[in-house]
Amino acid sequence: MMTLSLRLLFAVWLTAVSGRDIRNKQPNIVVVLADDYGFNDIGYHGSQIFTPNLDQLASDGVKLENYYVQPICSPTRSQLMSGRYQIHTGLQHGLINSGQPSALPLDNPTMADKMKEAGYATHMVGKWHLGYFKAEYMPFYRGFDTYYGYLTACENYTSHKRLYPHDGVAYLDLRDNNGPIYNESGHYSTHLFTEKAIHVVQAHDTSKPLFLYLAYQSVHAPLQVPGEYEKKYSHIQDEKRRTYAGMVSAMDEGMGNLTKALKEKGLWDNTILVFSTDNGGETYSGGNNFPLRGRKFTLWEGGLHGVGFVTGGRLPVKGLVNNELIHVSDWFPTLVGLAQGSLNGTKPLDGFDMWDTISRGTPSERTVLLHNIDPLFAKRGVPLYNDTFDTSVRAAVRVGDMKLITGDPGKGIWIPPPGESLDFHIEDDRQKSPEKNVWLFNITADPNEHHDLSDQMPDVVLSLLGYLEQFNETSVPPNWPHFDWRSSPARHGGVYGPWM
Ligand SMILES: *[C@@H]1O[C@H](CO)[C@@H](O)[C@H](O)[C@H]1NC(C)=O
Ligand SMILES: *[C@@H]1O[C@H](CO)[C@@H](O)[C@H](O)[C@H]1NC(C)=O
Ligand SMILES: *[C@@H]1O[C@H](CO)[C@@H](O)[C@H](O)[C@H]1NC(C)=O
Ligand SMILES: *[C@@H]1O[C@H](CO)[C@@H](O)[C@H](O)[C@H]1NC(C)=O
Ligand SMILES: *[C@@H]1O[C@H](CO)[C@@H](O)[C@H](O)[C@H]1NC(C)=O
Ligand SMILES: *[C@@H]1O[C@H](CO)[C@@H](O)[C@H](O)[C@H]1NC(C)=O
Ligand SMILES: *[C@@H]1O[C@H](CO)[C@@H](O)[C@H](O)[C@H]1NC(C)=O
Repeated sequence: MMTLSLRLLFAVWLTAVSGRDIRNKQPNIVVVLADDYGFNDIGYHGSQIFTPNLDQLASDGVKLENYYVQPICSPTRSQLMSGRYQIHTGLQHGLINSGQPSALPLDNPTMADKMKEAGYATHMVGKWHLGYFKAEYMPFYRGFDTYYGYLTACENYTSHKRLYPHDGVAYLDLRDNNGPIYNESGHYSTHLFTEKAIHVVQAHDTSKPLFLYLAYQSVHAPLQVPGEYEKKYSHIQDEKRRTYAGMVSAMDEGMGNLTKALKEKGLWDNTILVFSTDNGGETYSGGNNFPLRGRKFTLWEGGLHGVGFVTGGRLPVKGLVNNELIHVSDWFPTLVGLAQGSLNGTKPLDGFDMWDTISRGTPSERTVLLHNIDPLFAKRGVPLYNDTFDTSVRAAVRVGDMKLITGDPGKGIWIPPPGESLDFHIEDDRQKSPEKNVWLFNITADPNEHHDLSDQMPDVVLSLLGYLEQFNETSVPPNWPHFDWRSSPARHGGVYGPWM
């Protein structure tokens, strides 16, 4: 008996040790978020923009081709960091404006909190945009050991200043854990943030696993890039598109540099890297989502259907294209699960653990995706029915193949890259009938939203309205506080930062 149980114990111990060394070793996790990066702006989608590093990383990993984000910045970032829909955090309307005392509520632990709890060294570089009116909402109180970046939506890429609309003065928005950074004026942020991320990698103590969140400023407006990156695009006539293409190239180079640093440090083989955009491309600022319909800010696919892939030496599969429904809120349970962290203490999550889907191609557990319900957005038309969800309210939901849009989804035109023309003609029915407030598409059959089925399939419309009604019942009121004068950087040393 004794011998047997000792042997058993030994066997268990052996399995545990070898398991820990191979299968169960916590991976390094790197999440890279690009800003306003359009669906038609990555090489492997047939773009006119060259992205050799991103293409290589994606073809060494898994391209996510049925992948969704939110149509604007703070919302996507809030769901990435919390795993929860905006209707459950009060952030369902708009983005967090500088001067607005709003933030991702503290009762939502962030992905970084969970990684830290699981023993990770946690670092963030780049754009936060999840609120900063009080110090406790800043990245270093939300699970990140170190932070280097900016807090607001956008700014000048080299001066790192942002115009404060209420006095017309540009104030600094760049800081780390110790306070404002005054000496990086002239340093293009794609270079600066890549270098800071590389520094994190080089300085990393490998006795711990690494969690790095790099949220690039690229390729959001303003359109700015060192001249050398624009040179290879002299064939692009449109000036905005040409500069934007250069900005994408700089980011692509940065991804190459970061990958190289991870390899040189010996971390790559045990790394999972997620690359994602935060929303669709802004067609007014050089971005492009064609053949998808619409753009950033809209509930059309061009606003939501994002660029994303997973790569890294620790990924057990290579060269796959994944067509399962995956959403930005899924990263929270997926990556915390990979880190062997605990979901204890989180509020009910809206994300699903997608690891099996990504690494083995098993069907996604996600069959329903709430794109959003925004009760504060200007209503459109009158309710189609009185006994279910009010269709004048801006909302969208996906159930299986089908997507329902209500209210005002934003301008719904197809915008080819400048210089190219549409090879089809469809009128934007939104303009033709200003009262229309319901659209239904079979996204599987019609990913570019050419064929509105709402008249043909009223029962499907009703069924999806039922989903919206149910989601609406679980939502919290939107938090949309007034602008606060006390936020003025003029009162705080000329720097954006907490004011309460
Ligand atoms: C950014 O700041 C620099 C330095 O102040 C200035 O020369 C440049 O015009 C600014 N660019 C934009 C797009 O505002
Ligand atoms: C700015 O100051 C920091 C901290 O002293 C230093 O690490 C960095 O290299 C400086 N940057 C420049 C451009 O001098
Ligand atoms: C990438 O590294 C090269 C070589 O060090 C450097 O010249 C380039 O500026 C870096 N690019 C970015 C975007 O950081
Ligand atoms: C979960 O959290 C609660 C409250 O913080 C704590 O009492 C409990 O021990 C935790 N459970 C685990 C498994 O960590
Ligand atoms: C909904 O109610 C309003 C006000 O009672 C009424 O005018 C309208 O016809 C009703 N609409 C439908 C579709 O029943
Ligand atoms: C959502 O629920 C709230 C609270 O019950 C209700 O007042 C509102 O009318 C509902 N919205 C829609 C669009 O049905
Ligand atoms: C949507 O289109 C797909 C592909 O054509 C088809 O298989 C599916 O049955 C359609 N779904 C519905 C609900 O019509």
